[in-house]
Parts: sequence; structure tokens; C-alpha cells
Amino acid sequence: MTEDLKKRVAVVGATGAVGRVMLQVLEERDFPIESIRLFASARSAGKEICFRGQMLKVETIDGSRSFENVDFALFSAGGVTSRELAPIARNAGAIVIDNSNAWRMDPDVPLVVPEVNSQHLLKHSGIIANPNCSTIQLVVVLNVLESLAPIRRVVVSTYQSVSGTGLDAIDELQNQIKAAIEGSEAPAPRVYPHPIAFNLLPEIDVFDDEGNSMEEMKMVRETRKIMDRPDLMVSATCVRVPVRVGHGESVNVEFERAVDAVAAREALAAHPSIIVEDDPRNHVYPLPTRTQGLDPVFVGRIRKDVSHAKGLNMWIVADNLRKGAATNAIQIAEKLMEVNIR
Ligand code: A2P
Repeated sequence: MTEDLKKRVAVVGATGAVGRVMLQVLEERDFPIESIRLFASARSAGKEICFRGQMLKVETIDGSRSFENVDFALFSAGGVTSRELAPIARNAGAIVIDNSNAWRMDPDVPLVVPEVNSQHLLKHSGIIANPNCSTIQLVVVLNVLESLAPIRRVVVSTYQSVSGTGLDAIDELQNQIKAAIEGSEAPAPRVYPHPIAFNLLPEIDVFDDEGNSMEEMKMVRETRKIMDRPDLMVSATCVRVPVRVGHGESVNVEFERAVDAVAAREALAAHPSIIVEDDPRNHVYPLPTRTQGLDPVFVGRIRKDVSHAKGLNMWIVADNLRKGAATNAIQIAEKLMEVNIR
């Protein structure tokens, strides 16, 4: 790789659940890196993280100076940080790929899943949004199904792991499980409003006046934007489950005309980013424990909706930290390089 093809990268939120996976994915994919800077909050300043065999110091952000001479700034430090710092990074010359909710619905910001709408990257103004983890795994599948027949309506119920909330949430789940096993009193929940161990919480993000959670509305709006289908009917119910990594989704798809389950299975299996695991009698279907650490989107339980002649049901699982976050962000950077945008 010649030096001018190598990129100068910054990872904002490098100590977090997604940031750490970003570093792993950059290593694994042999991303062409000339230099890399790791940023986090003041409490992590000076910590060291190993990247490609070298110990790198975590820094705090010092305004635009931190983003001078940076080609790609990968942000995963929450919406407040992104809202404040992404424009600063962009104005300093970096292309920001942002994993937060801050910019996703901005009409000037492409919201991209490369398998679905990489064409949206051609028109950007320095900030590109990485969609919500639950939306990414859904649209990868919907996009293939849409090639068989136009989709009319999607009803999705999610089973979302705690890693989507961050490292604190993983600790909270583990501490509650440990306390229950030891018979000791669990510390009061701090991250979630109720204990998450041995529980199901139908609350992800804040609620609107109609009673929908923000996570549910993210799935509705982001799916429409990514698929260029403002008319697509999407109904979502999002539930946090006591799983460490990997989101599951029960999905009902209603088409404009009947789609055979066998044809859907074949089309999905032919897609390079999708793995079909669908032999339920032999207990074969996607499981979060098996998809952890992997990049594809896994689909199974593909079957006719017995209540609707033009409907199919299915079960979709993906690693929310990888395809749902880090891998998708890095694929966006790779796509930008491929089309010479940077
Ligand atoms: P830190 O570890 O120092 O708190 P998670 O999603 O796992 O909670 O991680 C959030 C990430 O965002 C962490 O790396 C966290 O750093 C980082 N972060 C939080 N606030 C800021 C900020 N103001 N500037 C830079 N990074 C931040």
C-alpha cells in the first residue's frame, strides 16, 4: 500500500463498547492506516490501548486541533458528544462517520448501510451517519426481500442485548446475575430503570407522547430513509433482554404480492452479507451466542404468515457491536475510499 493511500484515523469513544470493537475491526480488515489517534473522556486520559501490537495513549479532545490531519473520524461517544464535536471535526477537514443518533435524520447527512444504499454516500457534507444497530440488521434483509416483491408493511419486535447501551450496562447485567447466584443483595440498578437480569424491559430510550419509544421510532424513520421508501409502513416494539451481545428480531413482512418462503430463503442465502440458518426441526436458527464476533446478518425461521397470504415471518440476529455498529462504520469508510471520495 503506497503511503498516500493510507489514512489518518481518529476514534472518538475508543474506550467504549463500540470503540473497542472498531479498533478490532480496523485491525482485522487490515484497514490502510498511516496514523491513528484514540479519544475518550477525561477519565480515560492516559490509559493505554494496544493497536496492531503498539500501545497507544488515549487522549482527551482539544477542539479542532485534535482533528487536524485526520481523514476519518469514527465517532461512538454518544449523541451529546457527536452533536458538539462532529461539526468541529468536519470543519477541521475530517470525514466524520458517526454512530450516534445525533445526525441520522438530518437531510444533509447520508444514513448508510453499504449493502443497501452506498449511492447515498456520493452526496455528503462531511458527516455520515451510521444507523441504529437494530435498523442495520433489518434493512440488510428487507433490501433483499424488496427485490422479490415490493414490501408494504413491516412489523418488528426486537430482543436487544445490553451491549447496545454500553460497557456500564454489560457490568450491570453481570453484577446482577452474580449477586443472584451468590445469594447476595444486588446493587440498585443504575443504567436501567429495573433489574435487567432474568427480566425483559420494553423500554429503550425515551417515550414520545403517543407511547412509542425513541428506539422504536428510530427503526421506523431510519428504515424509510435508508431504503428510500418514505411510504413504507413500519411498526416496531423494542425490548431489552438479558443477553450480552447480539440483537434478535422477530419480523413480519407483508408484500404487495405473495412471496414464497423458499424463494425468500434462496434470495437471502445468495447475499454475501447474509447467512441463512433455517432448519428448526434440527434446532438450527440464528442465536446471539453464535453470531457474537461475526459480521454477517443471520436469518432463520423463514415461513409463511398463516394469517396473511402475502406475508412472511422470520427471525434475524446480528452482532450489534459489529455489523450493527463498528463494522458498518468501517465499511462506510472503505466504500468512500473505493469511490475515491477520500
Ligand atoms: P470514557 O470511557 O472515558 O467514559 P460506552 O458506549 O461503552 O458507554 O462508551 C462511550 C464512549 O464514549 C467511551 O469511550 C467514553 O469514554 C466516550 N466518551 C464519553 N464522553 C466523551 C467525551 N465528552 N469526549 C470523548 N469521549 C467521550
